[in-house]
Order: sequence, then structure tokens, then C-alpha cells
Amino acid sequence: MTSTKKATMTFTDGTPSVEFPIYEGTVGPDVIDIRKLYGQTGKFTFDPGFMSTAACDSKITYIDGDKGELLYRGYPIEQLATNCDYLETCYLLLNGELPNRAQQKDFEYRVTHHTMVHEQMTRFFQGFRRDAHPMAVLVGCVGALSAFYHDSLDINNAEHRHISAIRLIAKMPTLVAMAYKYTVGQPFMYPRNDLSYSGNLMRMMFGTPCEEYKVNEVLERALDRILILHADHEQNASTSTVRLAGSSGANPFACIAAGIATLWGPAHGGANEACLQMLDEIQRNGGVEKIGDFIAKVKDKNSGVKLMGFGHRVYKNYDPRAKLMRETCYEVLGELGLHDDPLFKLSMKLEQIALEDDYFVSRKLYPNVDFYSGIVQKALGIPTSMFTCIFALARTVGWIAQWNEMISDPEQKIGRPRQLFVGATRRDVKAIDLR
Ligand code: CMC
Repeated sequence: MTSTKKATMTFTDGTPSVEFPIYEGTVGPDVIDIRKLYGQTGKFTFDPGFMSTAACDSKITYIDGDKGELLYRGYPIEQLATNCDYLETCYLLLNGELPNRAQQKDFEYRVTHHTMVHEQMTRFFQGFRRDAHPMAVLVGCVGALSAFYHDSLDINNAEHRHISAIRLIAKMPTLVAMAYKYTVGQPFMYPRNDLSYSGNLMRMMFGTPCEEYKVNEVLERALDRILILHADHEQNASTSTVRLAGSSGANPFACIAAGIATLWGPAHGGANEACLQMLDEIQRNGGVEKIGDFIAKVKDKNSGVKLMGFGHRVYKNYDPRAKLMRETCYEVLGELGLHDDPLFKLSMKLEQIALEDDYFVSRKLYPNVDFYSGIVQKALGIPTSMFTCIFALARTVGWIAQWNEMISDPEQKIGRPRQLFVGATRRDVKAIDLR
């Protein structure tokens, strides 16, 4: 990276001022390179939550939170969601360019022919209680994949990284569907190579060996769109976790399992599940009539209640994914004749009220993708507890693309944040009777 601009940091404690290079990205805010700060001043920066810290440079995804813009490798999410399918999007995220027809066919073939998991994998499932949360099962099973592919775990070998990427993208739908089937006590369904990526996932989740499963094209397209919209989102908590785990040289399956664990939280990927639970609860407590009471609770800082599916660390405008998901939501509910669904009506009312309320307007809190994706998934027949698994499945390509980018970077170092220590200073251990 080259720098033409500089920043000077001055101090009030006598430390001589220091100059840092400023780098410009192709778009977005400049960054100040403070890597030499500690060496030159003996001081760290303090930025819990990474509010002002870029942890890496990346060519994959760009978000303009104020404009509400999301680009994968430069392409607007709206164009990708309208003109491409999920596997083309995966190819783009991994390789930097959209595939031509031959590349698309080849990529599809590779992914499709890696969808089966080792038969022994089924025994891992049996170790879980039937009522285990499917995300717990997924964290375990994805991590366990590393025990099956010793042939391709050399992270410094680009071929190994590629095959691991294909395996992860291919096997995630199989594992996610198995996690679901295990919960409901139905037999696991093997993947079918004649179906699309999303059609195959639907059949593995909702089909049974007793009869043919016919994929509904509108619903298949909706599921594919959910996957596209969740495929990557630059350096969020789970992606940063994958990068941090990977920076130690851990294998990709272990890193993705770490990403899945991070995604599980309700402030991140768990939000769509939490959002549906919130809608259910409002519905149970009086529905549309009681939205006012609920909003009052959300605005009361002491209540600890948040409007799930609203707000975002980066978007201070309408989340572009939410707009597309809203459109899909209408399509799916129309196809299934569910427009009068009380939860959908409730969510529309909640959205309208929140968008007009000064609390949300002044804080720039807009609906995020999870506000609608939960409703769409529910309409598709996906149970609430599986929502975050679908998110994890979709995000796997983003994680692996980001992990690959990090490993290929010659300047890559193990991630090691520092701290401001505020605990006890050195003291001596007293004998137990004197404590
Ligand atoms: N409901 C009520 N108040 C909120 C909400 C919300 N959903 N989100 C933020 N606020 C308030 C917050 O209390 C704070 O108010 P004040 O300035 O008076 O203290 C202000 O808005 C700024 O919020 P923040 O907590 O500083 O913002 P953040 O960037 O740290 O948090 C967030 C972002 C996504 C964690 C948060 O908005 C949230 O918890 N939203 C609900 C959960 C959710 O929908 N998460 C999914 C995110 S999209 C999927 C993904 O990419 O993972």
C-alpha cells in the first residue's frame, strides 16, 4: 500500500508527536496505519467493539452504510439478487469475477458432486439429544469435518484451500438438513444431483423417502435469494472470528465452526430467530392493538427490550438486503396465499410505526435483513430454530472467501489485540488460612 497523505498524532504528556501514513481504499473512508504506534510511543489505541478500526484490507465486499449500499466484488446486491443465482454469487465471492457459462457449469458440477457427507457423520448426530439446538449440532458437525479430510488441510496449498472451500459450500446444506431431520426424528435424505443448490436443500429438509418431493420454483427462488443476501457482509463479528481463528493457522473447517458459533448470538445471526419470537410474543399478548405498549417498552432503556430486526452497526439507512427480502416476502406469501397471515400483518404495522417514531428515526434505526427473512423462512416451512443455520449455510462462502484472502496475503500475521489493563497490580499469594 502506498500513502500520499499523513496523520500526525500529538500528545499532552511529553511524548514526541508521531506521523502515520494514511491509505486510501478504492472507495470508502481512508485508514490511518498505526502499526508502528506502540514501537514509537509505547502506547496502544483503545477501540473495544472496533468502532474505528479496520482489521484488514479486503477486495471482497463493500458496504456504504449511509447510502444503504452493498457490493459483492463491486456488483450491487440488487443486481446479483435479480440476475444471478447463489452458486454464481459463490463463484464471484471466491474468485473475484462472475463465471462465464463454462465456468458456471464446472463450478456447479464440482459443488454438486461434493454434497454427500461421510456416512460416519450420521453417528455424530446420534450423540446429540433430539431437542439440541440445531446451531449446537452444526458447530460440532462442521468442526468435525476436519477429522475427515486430512488430504486437504495444508492451508498453504492453494489447491487444498480450494477443495476445502468446495467441500464446505457443498456439504453445508446436507448438514443443515440433517440437523433438522434429526430434530424431527425423520430419516436423513441424501442429496440429489439433478436439483439446484436451493432445490436440493428444500428436498433434503422437507422430503421423505416415502414419496417424490416436488420443488416449488417460487419458493426455491426465494430460498436462493435468502442465500445470496446473506452470502457475505465484510468484517462483521463472525467473519472477523473466522479471520482471527484462521490467523493462527487453524484448518478451514475449525475456522468456519468458530464463525458459526459467533453467528449464533441474537445480536448477529440469531436476530431472525429472535425477531420471530418477538412477533410471536406480541401476537400472544394482544397483537396489533398492543404494538404501542411494545414500542414503549423498547424505548424504555431499563426494560432491556430491543426491536429485533431493527438497527445495524454499519447501515444507518434502509438495509438494501431488507428491501429485497421484503419483495421476496410478498412473493412467497402471495404464492402460498398467506397475505392475511397475522404475523405478517403485525410485522408490517410494526415496521410502519417504527419508521415514523422519533426514537428510531433520530437513531437511524431501520429494518435490517432479519426483519423479513424470518417471516419468509417461516412461510417456507423452516422452523424458527433453524433460521440461524440457514444464515450460517449462506455465509459459509463469505467466511471461506475472507479466510482465503487472509491466508493468501503475504503480510498476514496472527491476530493479537492488546488491552488496557485495569485489574490488580502484582501482589503475593497468602497462605490459605491468612486469606
Ligand atoms: N431497538 C431499540 N433500540 C436500539 C436498537 C433496537 N433494535 N438498536 C439500537 N438501538 C439504540 C441503542 O439503544 C442506542 O441508543 P442510545 O444512543 O440512546 O444509547 C442506539 O440505538 C445506537 O445503538 P448501538 O447499540 O450503539 O448500535 P450498535 O451498532 O452497537 O448495535 C445492533 C447494532 C445490530 C447490535 C443493534 O442495532 C441491535 O441489537 N439490533 C437488534 C438485533 C438485530 O436485529 N441484529 C441483526 C443485525 S443484521 C444481521 C447481521 O448482519 O448480523
